[in-house]
Amino acid sequence: SLEQSLRPQTLKQYIGQNQVKENLEIFIKAARLRKETLDHVLLYGPPGLGKTTLAVIIANEMGVNIRTTSGPAIERPGDLAAILTALEPGDVLFIDEIHRLQRTIEEVLYPAMEDFCLDIVIGKGPSARSVRLDLPPFTLVGATTRAGSLSAPLRDRFGVLSRLEYYKEDQLKNIVIRTAEVFGTEIDDSSAAEIARRARGTPRIANRLLRRVRDFAQVRGNGTINLALAREALELLQVDRLGLDHIDHKLLKGIIEKFRGGPVGLDTIAASIGEESETIEDVYEPYLLQIGFLQRTPRGRVVTAAVYQHFGMEIPAP
Ligand code: ADE
Repeated sequence: SLEQSLRPQTLKQYIGQNQVKENLEIFIKAARLRKETLDHVLLYGPPGLGKTTLAVIIANEMGVNIRTTSGPAIERPGDLAAILTALEPGDVLFIDEIHRLQRTIEEVLYPAMEDFCLDIVIGKGPSARSVRLDLPPFTLVGATTRAGSLSAPLRDRFGVLSRLEYYKEDQLKNIVIRTAEVFGTEIDDSSAAEIARRARGTPRIANRLLRRVRDFAQVRGNGTINLALAREALELLQVDRLGLDHIDHKLLKGIIEKFRGGPVGLDTIAASIGEESETIEDVYEPYLLQIGFLQRTPRGRVVTAAVYQHFGMEIPAP
């Protein structure tokens, strides 16, 4: 389907994350040469950088099936047991948001990851006993936006830890061009570059902007994307020159206007602008930190001089 071909299916088609890709290529080749199951892989980094895509690629490159679930979706140990016992040898089990697994479920996962077995308790009370069940060997691919909130015993059971980084503009541009090709949409280089510049280092955002610009070109133009149309569409989407959207603006202006630029605690700023602390921390903050718009200090978040400049505001005296 179109949705499927939108995502790259092989490491070769996957643009960017060169170090992660190079490492995975070697580990996959080695496992295949030895006819072994690939070691468990933990992918971590900000949302939208391609963790799910890489999990699918790992399964494709290993020539196995992928079973996908997420930390919050697994509510009881039995849910995980059902998934694990249904795997075929070598399969990839992808657990998104793995930092949100409950502790009782993590404990089911440890022997499964380490020894490919499951300890299940049968019965209740004094007659209860524990039975050890063999599982097919499998590769757990875990994804998280916060490697730091994974428990140490869980983190230690991954043989491969890969951190995804924000993409460079030229890589994002190539992703936009590739996606436009899949859509069958004509786009020139400068329009692709404009979308890439405003995508906050994130393919998911680049592809979302491309879809909206494509809509705009279809209705206001003849379907071909040019720079004028792209800029008009991006204005309409309220994505600024640096790709910051209205929530970034609310966050930064909130710190300036309500807390004199900070320092202010995360929960305080979150409550004052009506957003979840976790969303700010996982989704919005990482990019603002990366571009030097925010700093984290022991006393809270502080906006930098660059933010005042970006908004055309006077930088306050220290
Ligand atoms: N689409 C989304 N992310 C991509 C990537 N990293 N490479 C190629 N196409 C993509």
